[in-house]
Amino acid sequence: MTVTDRAFALELDANDPLARFRDQFVIADPNICYLDGNSLGRLPKKTIEVVNDFLIKEWGAQAVEGWSHWIDEAQRTGDLIGRATLGAAEGQVLACDTTSVNFFQLVGAALAARPGRKTIITDAANFPTDRYILQGLAERFGLNLITIDNESAGGAEYERITPEILQPYLSDDVAFVTFEVIQYRSGARTDIKAITDLARSYGALTIWDASHAVGAIEMDFDANGVDLAVGCTYKYGNSGPGAPAWFYVNKSVQSLLQVPIQGWFAQADQFEMGAIFEKSNSIRGFQIASPSIVGLRSIQCAFGMIEEASIEAIAHKSAQGTAMMIDLYDAWLADLGFTLNTSRNPSERGGHISLIHPEAKRIAVALRQFANVIPDYRAPNSIRLAIAPLPTSYVEVWDGFQRLRDLVSTRQYEKVSVEGSRVT
Ligand SMILES: Cc1ncc(COP(=O)(O)O)c(C=O)c1O
Repeated sequence: MTVTDRAFALELDANDPLARFRDQFVIADPNICYLDGNSLGRLPKKTIEVVNDFLIKEWGAQAVEGWSHWIDEAQRTGDLIGRATLGAAEGQVLACDTTSVNFFQLVGAALAARPGRKTIITDAANFPTDRYILQGLAERFGLNLITIDNESAGGAEYERITPEILQPYLSDDVAFVTFEVIQYRSGARTDIKAITDLARSYGALTIWDASHAVGAIEMDFDANGVDLAVGCTYKYGNSGPGAPAWFYVNKSVQSLLQVPIQGWFAQADQFEMGAIFEKSNSIRGFQIASPSIVGLRSIQCAFGMIEEASIEAIAHKSAQGTAMMIDLYDAWLADLGFTLNTSRNPSERGGHISLIHPEAKRIAVALRQFANVIPDYRAPNSIRLAIAPLPTSYVEVWDGFQRLRDLVSTRQYEKVSVEGSRVT
């Protein structure tokens, strides 16, 4: 049996210790191959119950009295995210706000912690919100923003930042470097320990954006000596559109850092309502304001499932599922004008792969319109395809690839227009 036999995928499912989780998600149309869990995860059935219970039994029944037990939920939920997915001991993760706000906060804190240093480093393939926030701050504070070119030919293999690529840009003027753990477009995985250690040898902090990594791979933040990180919960975290994001501040640097938005939740004695700000010496010292309890409940539900499944088993399925995708690419897609834009080495990728095609945009739209396959398109020419280890089966991925092959070989995608949608 080879990968091009559907039985190959069915056998992987039969031996998959995580297969039982698929039934715990809402799968409204079983004919759809949902390969976009790297963008928005599916809805766990239990979340409907948990959120509904919260609305009726807590907000409805308790009204303001509820705050007595809701008040520290951002910390408790952060601990769960840290334990289930990040390899972080308690007291270092907070679930709150958006990835963008959390990134701004940590960037501001890192800058202030390295007074006199004027250089900050990122890469061209980094997610837009991170690059735009850095550009704005660089302009406002007269910083030297270095953007490593890892997009042009010869810049970096699959956009992957390595210590060799970073080294020439480092100096004792660098306050921090910031990269994605997994590149949003190509799916390249960066070696977080090697980069963090290298930056630290120049006295610089490292801020990781783990949005595309959390819930797909093991990161071992504490063991790898990570300083700072942010990420979302709505991709492989399955916590819903706009659910609160998270950030991680290693215990060893917490007392040295002060975020720029110094809100009331960070105050040591919050309800004294005192005249002068005094930062709490727990992770709450980084919290701005009232958390969204509805959002936190859906995180608790979805990350509870991840904890039960174990991030180790999840990472194994990400590696095996993406390996199957790459084998199917070799067998079916390489001759149809596609180029693989993700490493063949499982330790250099996460839960999604990226395929480049000159007609990528039209193909992505046509897959939805004609083939019941949901991928996503990222400018200028790539299609991303993911296996979300809890809700996605191997055969769902296999069927999606077969439909992709058929759609492109029959040139059906030529029938679609790409105008219209603001979201790709
Ligand atoms: C890598 C990365 N960083 C940041 C963001 C932005 O997240 P948010 O809208 O929660 O600020 C995203 C969104 O997809 C992302 O993929």
